[in-house]
Amino acid sequence: MEGAALATPLTRAAGIEVPLVCGAMYPCSNPELVAAVSEAGGIGVVQPISLTYVHGHDFREGLRLMRRLTSKPIGMNALIEQSSRTYRERMERWIDVALEEGVRFFVTSLGNPRWVADRVKAVGGVVYHDVTERKWAEKAVAGGVHGLIAVNDRAGGHAGERSAERLLEELSPLGLPVVCAGGIGDERDFARVLRMGYAGAQLGTRFIATHECRASEAYKRGIVEAGEKDIVLTERLTGVPVAVINTPSVRRLGTKAGPLARFMLRGRRTKHWMRTIYAVRSLWALKRGLLRDSPERDTWQAGKSVAGIDRIEPAGDVVRRFAEAWRASAGA
Ligand SMILES: Cc1cc2nc3c(=O)[nH]c(=O)nc-3n(C[C@H](O)[C@H](O)[C@H](O)COP(=O)(O)O)c2cc1C
Repeated sequence: MEGAALATPLTRAAGIEVPLVCGAMYPCSNPELVAAVSEAGGIGVVQPISLTYVHGHDFREGLRLMRRLTSKPIGMNALIEQSSRTYRERMERWIDVALEEGVRFFVTSLGNPRWVADRVKAVGGVVYHDVTERKWAEKAVAGGVHGLIAVNDRAGGHAGERSAERLLEELSPLGLPVVCAGGIGDERDFARVLRMGYAGAQLGTRFIATHECRASEAYKRGIVEAGEKDIVLTERLTGVPVAVINTPSVRRLGTKAGPLARFMLRGRRTKHWMRTIYAVRSLWALKRGLLRDSPERDTWQAGKSVAGIDRIEPAGDVVRRFAEAWRASAGA
């Protein structure tokens, strides 16, 4: 009965109670965090590179660990940019293993999600695709996805360029459920986007400041203490703008890609090498920065939702408080 009061197309598709997704986060998604969000009635999304490379689990064993922590649905993120054949083959294997282990909710980012949608649909699962504008959403719809995740200009990670309001207006006519990603730090933000007509919310930054996330205490405190003005976009991590806290390390390095990198990112051939160099370098730097207590040396990703985050708390408490606020606001 309680679940029904919060039902949206997202909760029905994913088989969950609260329309709240803990989005994939490299390097912050660890199994305990993903499982805690799912156990509380939302859905945690596994980031495969974070699970294996950062947190040291064999992919299948990591999924089984989560299964021991919760019997409720978990999701998986598939970044499907066609950058290398080896990566694509690895991703195909990860998706097959996830399907074998019972995962039925997938969030795809970048690239054409058709091949993921085909595999997932064959076993009755669903695919939601991250988009920042209508052009990409149309491709995803043509690729057969079930829903869209609208990444707006306040998001942590690779932010979009449009506001939550504008994205909903652009994407709603496509006829699929739309989930809001970006800028949701407290329960009032959550209730507000659901009232606007979103089918759910995907949060990242809020869940870093939780007991279950393995990020360092300094990173978590950095999120609690930061205000909206402390969030800047830097190209220094991946070559495209990523939202980070303006720590002394970011101020020292600057936020623009260097001249050589910029030149290489423009070239038709060199841009692929440059992106690979960036990808490898940022995977390593972010992994190192996750556990270290050093704003002087590290880059910490976070979005403008820091404005609404005032405490480090259990992930399940976030889900329950947000659900309660929505229930109250919907008069359920
Ligand atoms: C530290 C961090 C890492 C992220 N890594 C990924 C990722 O690996 N894949 C992905 O699809 N999205 C990633 N995101 C985006 C989140 O899944 C989510 O869409 C976003 O954080 C929502 O905005 P919010 O941080 O304001 O809640 C990341 C976000 C953060 C904050």
